[in-house]
Amino acid sequence: MDRIRIVGGSKLNGTIPISGAKNAALPLMIAGLLSEETLILDNVPRLADVAQLQRILGNHGVDIMSAGKRPGDHEYQGQTLHISAKNIIDTTAPYELVSKMRASFWVIAPLLARMQEAKVSLPGGCAIGTRPVDLLIMALEKLGAELTIDGGYVIAKAPGGLKGAEIDFPKVTVSGTHVALMAATLAKGTTIINNAACEPEIVDVADCLNKMGARVTGAGTPRIVIEGVAKLHGARHTVLPDRIETGTYAMAVAMTGGDVQLSGARPELLQSALDVLTQAGATITVNNDGIRVSRNGAGLSPVNVSTAPFPGFPTDLQAQLMALMSCAKGSSHITETIFENRFMHVQELARFGARIHLDGETATIDGIAKLRGAPVMATDLRASVSLVIAGLAAEGETMVNRIYHLDRGFERLEEKLSACGATIERISG
Ligand code: UD1
Repeated sequence: MDRIRIVGGSKLNGTIPISGAKNAALPLMIAGLLSEETLILDNVPRLADVAQLQRILGNHGVDIMSAGKRPGDHEYQGQTLHISAKNIIDTTAPYELVSKMRASFWVIAPLLARMQEAKVSLPGGCAIGTRPVDLLIMALEKLGAELTIDGGYVIAKAPGGLKGAEIDFPKVTVSGTHVALMAATLAKGTTIINNAACEPEIVDVADCLNKMGARVTGAGTPRIVIEGVAKLHGARHTVLPDRIETGTYAMAVAMTGGDVQLSGARPELLQSALDVLTQAGATITVNNDGIRVSRNGAGLSPVNVSTAPFPGFPTDLQAQLMALMSCAKGSSHITETIFENRFMHVQELARFGARIHLDGETATIDGIAKLRGAPVMATDLRASVSLVIAGLAAEGETMVNRIYHLDRGFERLEEKLSACGATIERISG
């Protein structure tokens, strides 16, 4: 199994190109199921999750062609996918495929909308425990689908087609909003989604759906209105830049010190995180090419932050901020309000010497002068990269084990960081 070896202590200086957003690319690829015609997606990141979703869509009969590089393309430029769902030959998404990636459950929405049926395995782990899908099921039922759960599968049928409805989400859910939005595009009549997620990836998907002929308004606000249409057609769309990758590298620079241009980044996608970084002592400037982050000399100041749905501080940057605050001058408090137990990184950060105390949803981090490198284990996607950031700033050698989580969500991580002066390498086998 691959590992990443880091020798910490170098400042980061240079340019890091920001990839297309994983959390937009996945639902955009799934939206390709809604049309018989080809959906072309540009700037799709080369990630394990994207490859896995290609396999899942292929199982439904979708042809996906990945276009190679063109003269003049930047070496980091994402791939272009041609997604053609002319013939859907199978409406079942089996356990073996869905259990590997939670977002693949979302295929239930376009399959149901276009084929009036779907059989999709419940996503991995315990069925309706933490990270449940009850609100996704509620939304589809509101749209007139009949759903049963049998043998670990959700079996969904809408014999006369889906019908527009008013959907009130009791809590903000990104997955629920994606599913309701995609399903409603082909429903008869008008759908209103109240308390919708406002995340930029929802807006990106809505923009693409509109290019495909859907009639969606209000994406990016808590009230989305969708006028159903009979068919969607082909379109071409560019995936927006990854705000979590942007925030992650910004925190890495804040932690090691140095000066890095995050090329292609869009500040409005992560303003809350940039504000926190400024408060912590980083200098953030916005320019034509993206965002520049630097920190020279002065130490890090502690911060108090709660995660929240967009435009609040993203839960997907919580672990990285905790790594950063482990070297602040004083005590910080970080409260996780989106996912209970999203603190797997705490015990691994402790191996670097970080002083973190957990009390329910809140972590108190007592900053220390210097972390020390250590062997650590990557636990989940965002937690893994917090260990990389800690390793970059720590004295001595860090070995991050089980890095397949990183490959799910961070494109060419070690290449991008070593180009900025980090000592970081992948050890295969
Ligand atoms: C998405 C992102 C993930 C991010 C999260 C929150 C993708 C592929 N993943 O995950 O990176 O961390 O948004 O910004 O885009 N919930 C229910 N019932 C449901 C669905 C969700 O109770 O049916 C709860 C969840 O347990 C959680 C909260 O709602 O506590 C938010 O979940 P949700 O926004 O749906 O997250 P994901 O879409 O899974």
